[in-house]
Amino acid sequence: MEKDKKLYITTPIYYPSAKLTIGNCYTTVCCDAISRYHKMLGYDVFFMTGTDEHGQKIQKKAQAKGVSEKQFLDEIVADTKDLWEKLKIDYSRFIRTTDEDHIKVASTVFQKLYDKGEIYKTEYKGKYCTPCESFWTEDQLVDGMCPDCGRPVEDMCEECYNFRLSNYTDKILNLYKEHPEFLQPQSRVNEMVNNFLKDGLKDLCVSRQSVTWGVPVPFDNKHTIYVWIDALTNYLTGLGYLSEDESKFKKFWPCDVHVVGKEIVRFHAIIWPALLMALDLPVPKRILGHGWLLFGNDKLSKSKEAGVVEVFDPRILYERYGADAIRNFIIGEVVFGQDGPYSQEIFLNAYNTNLANKIGNLVSRTTGMVNKYNNGIIECSADIHNELFDALKQNVLNLKEQSIELMKDFKLTQSYHKVLDIVDAGNKFVDDYRPWEKAKDENAKAELNEFLRILCEVNVIACTMLLPFLPERIPLAFEKFGEQVPTNFEHIKNFGFIKNGTKVDKGENLYERLDVAKENADLIEIAKQLKAKSN
Ligand code: MSP
Repeated sequence: MEKDKKLYITTPIYYPSAKLTIGNCYTTVCCDAISRYHKMLGYDVFFMTGTDEHGQKIQKKAQAKGVSEKQFLDEIVADTKDLWEKLKIDYSRFIRTTDEDHIKVASTVFQKLYDKGEIYKTEYKGKYCTPCESFWTEDQLVDGMCPDCGRPVEDMCEECYNFRLSNYTDKILNLYKEHPEFLQPQSRVNEMVNNFLKDGLKDLCVSRQSVTWGVPVPFDNKHTIYVWIDALTNYLTGLGYLSEDESKFKKFWPCDVHVVGKEIVRFHAIIWPALLMALDLPVPKRILGHGWLLFGNDKLSKSKEAGVVEVFDPRILYERYGADAIRNFIIGEVVFGQDGPYSQEIFLNAYNTNLANKIGNLVSRTTGMVNKYNNGIIECSADIHNELFDALKQNVLNLKEQSIELMKDFKLTQSYHKVLDIVDAGNKFVDDYRPWEKAKDENAKAELNEFLRILCEVNVIACTMLLPFLPERIPLAFEKFGEQVPTNFEHIKNFGFIKNGTKVDKGENLYERLDVAKENADLIEIAKQLKAKSN
């Protein structure tokens, strides 16, 4: 990845069957932070997200509302885009699978696979899970239920087209063996091997007669293309595959990282590479299967049973606490790759711990001290060294490098925490140096000024590295130190970049401390009102 310095990163495309929840924000916020960070490292980044708009689920929802599919979708897509704007999601393309260029790609891919003999006509008899839009054989069911979502399945028999997935068992196993980085974390590889590959893959039904809201099979329009083939090929459409200008496709394919929730790893780590191999296209470099944000112990159900009333709507959380609060919770509290709980209290405490007590505190005490001890001016004295200053500088530069290495390996949460460690180091630097004592000593003036300059630089280094994670309020920090909002990490390579005579402004606080008990009570009141409205 380092050689060509390009990054193609994707989120799954969302089913716009209902307004997005904070759970849905998880993947998109994580991808946005990874994307922004890589841009700051000098990578050329293409970041794709969008909506997966075909299939029975959408059709049924639109019918129930008495509107056309398109009308139904347009409203939710507008809400989704609005939410992404609020959360500062800086995507390169928002694709809709109803976009014309995508319909052409999905349909041409299907035709190509058919022409190559990778797809054949047959009859399907078996079990069908409507919510997952997946066919299953009897022996794949778990206690008679869908192995993906655990819901009941229906008997189904219809003419269909199959993809020769069974030819790809060894090829996929080899892919995992030769490229251990392909599917991460490692536990997901074990899941794929044990649940699907060990006994050999079965051919996959890739068309539907029962679903009319979909892309028609180009040579047999009684059928529509299976929603997962339609959905997965969005990753090609987004780069202009099969369009007049394929330059982006040539530059960015194969994808560097598809970030997906654990329940859809099978589609990305088995079906998708098999389809690409069948098309003679290179397979993605990496699939990251992240965990879930849990509500109660396992999704919403337990909290409901216990009668817990909480706010889950990201729009309400945004209105009260802003985008950085949501991003800080998602990135900092739920270790990327693992499951993690959501509760209002965890959310609010994470705000206070990281944003108010660490970042807000460092910036406000630093700017306050420059104003108090030197009238808001940075004065650089002759090079002053002491053990504390040198150790701090070395520590900060080490933490910076560690954060970068972690991010290059997509260890998002850990990378963020290394930057927070820089903030901690800054706060500790103040406590250890005790500037309030030096200020009483006329002879320590030059050293105190050097301390203030180093401390300001720690602020700028930390804030530069926080930008990808907290892009709403952190940009406001730079003005305080007479700096432009940086677009890369270049100027924080080393200490010594703040100029003599720089004016430092205290300005408004970046993050005010929250009264957790009060906020929690307010949110519970809001949740109660929402619940009463929906009953
Ligand atoms: N449309 C398919 C993806 C097709 S990609 C070619 C889909 N859509 S989805 O809307 O159901 O889910 C989108 C993503 O949101 C998934 O990666 C899913 O794991 C994620 N999340 C939904 N709820 C979540 C949590 N509670 N926690 C974390 N991520 C979750 O699947």
